[in-house]
Amino acid sequence: MAPHVAVIGAGIIGLSTAVLAQEKIPGLQVTIISEHFSPHTTGDGSAGLWMPYCLKDTPQNKILRWSSKTYDHILKLWKSNEAGDVGISLIPVYKLTEKSGGEDMEQPEWTKVPLAHHIINSHQAQKLASLSDSKFTGGTHCISFTLEPTYFLPYLMQKFKVNGGKVLHQKVESLQQFCGQNYDVVINCTGVQAHNLVGDKSVQPVRGQVLRVNAPWVFHAALEGNEGNYIIPNKDNVILGGTQQEGNWNTKPDPADSMSIHNGCCKLMPGLKEAVIVNEWAGLRPGRSEVRLERDHVRDKYGNKLEVIHNYGHGGSGVTLSWGCAHDVVNILKDILYSQPSTVKLSSKL
Ligand code: BEZ
Repeated sequence: MAPHVAVIGAGIIGLSTAVLAQEKIPGLQVTIISEHFSPHTTGDGSAGLWMPYCLKDTPQNKILRWSSKTYDHILKLWKSNEAGDVGISLIPVYKLTEKSGGEDMEQPEWTKVPLAHHIINSHQAQKLASLSDSKFTGGTHCISFTLEPTYFLPYLMQKFKVNGGKVLHQKVESLQQFCGQNYDVVINCTGVQAHNLVGDKSVQPVRGQVLRVNAPWVFHAALEGNEGNYIIPNKDNVILGGTQQEGNWNTKPDPADSMSIHNGCCKLMPGLKEAVIVNEWAGLRPGRSEVRLERDHVRDKYGNKLEVIHNYGHGGSGVTLSWGCAHDVVNILKDILYSQPSTVKLSSKL
């Protein structure tokens, strides 16, 4: 019997993990089980900007490794003839701040990854501030990509199905329900739902609300510091954000948030004042002290053991870390499958 794994969750983390597992482990049977699929995943509401965001104490070396693997993958797709179809755009990103001292501040490790990353000095920041109604004194500029989940998730799903993957539309109540079934490993990519599924109360929603406006003349991203408002262009509209409300499970757009986002973004880019709002959306980033990517197991009441790999808690960096994390998961998966010779017949290509 070929080895069989279940991936729980069909967001950017689940689909990337499932597709990479198919690609790296020939003969592997993969089933994705999820209550929600695109366009109803958390990623679908996001702008899909590659930029580590809202990752709390996740170690810098891990952020660097996972984000650079993903950046390289996006770059490869960008150079392929699929770039337009999969929703990739190359964009300049300006992160500006009203705090001074930015020039001397040590930059996080991941800033080595983008094609270009520069510190903006106070003189340049003041010039850039003239584009807005704000007073900026410093910041950074980089070349990044948007990988839009509304395009990319259907692309991954199609790839998954062509590779022979199966899909089950169902809410998973507990991992124990898979003990004694014919899955060799279950991979937990449930994002904020890990809070309930595995009782990990350190996973907390970090509620993000955004507006989408019609402003086809915007071709660069502007972010106000690490936690302020932001403007990120996508192919069909421009995303105005955002909120970072920890512990808030409300997925309905809040009119007060919309007003504050709109005001903040119009201060950042005054030309947006008359732009038509085409959508308001709120989603729950899976916040955690750090990303959880590790091997684990559960047992049911009969003592049946099930191997589990967790891959959740990516904060606002699902797109940014997706492919890099999928690589680490696949390495753990290979370790598990190799050490269970009786259950599985693996291809000699492994
Ligand atoms: C967000 O989760 O809102 C976000 C992620 C990356 C860059 C900017 C915003």
